[in-house]
Amino acid sequence: AIDPQFDENREKEGTHKGHDVWGPVEEPEQLGIHGTHVAVDFDVCLADGACLEDCPVDVFEWVDTPDHPESEIKADPVNEAQCIDCMLCVDVCPVDAIDVDAS
Ligand code: SF4
Ligand code: F3S
Ligand code: ZN
Repeated sequence: AIDPQFDENREKEGTHKGHDVWGPVEEPEQLGIHGTHVAVDFDVCLADGACLEDCPVDVFEWVDTPDHPESEIKADPVNEAQCIDCMLCVDVCPVDAIDVDAS
């Protein structure tokens, strides 16, 4: 599962499509956490897809992650600024890869 304290326990390593990436990143095996308000641990995501299907405001898009051990696509929170904090994605992800900071 994603560490909900990732913003204290990890360092920002860069940005991707307008959101932060929290390391460590060692491609292609280790990809870190993408996003801050809507954060997806790419090393936990196994491309279930429920978050993409259920998000009412289409926060997520698939991104290719070839040669990652869990899955070769990931749910990327490209529209995290549009999140309405409904928490559906957090509830449906089977591996708890997503943290939404609704506070
Ligand atoms: Fe989408 Fe709701 Fe998840 Fe925000 S909390 S990313 S609106 S499903
Ligand atoms: Fe990945 Fe969970 Fe979405 S496994 S694709 S973050 S439902
Ligand atoms: Zn990203």
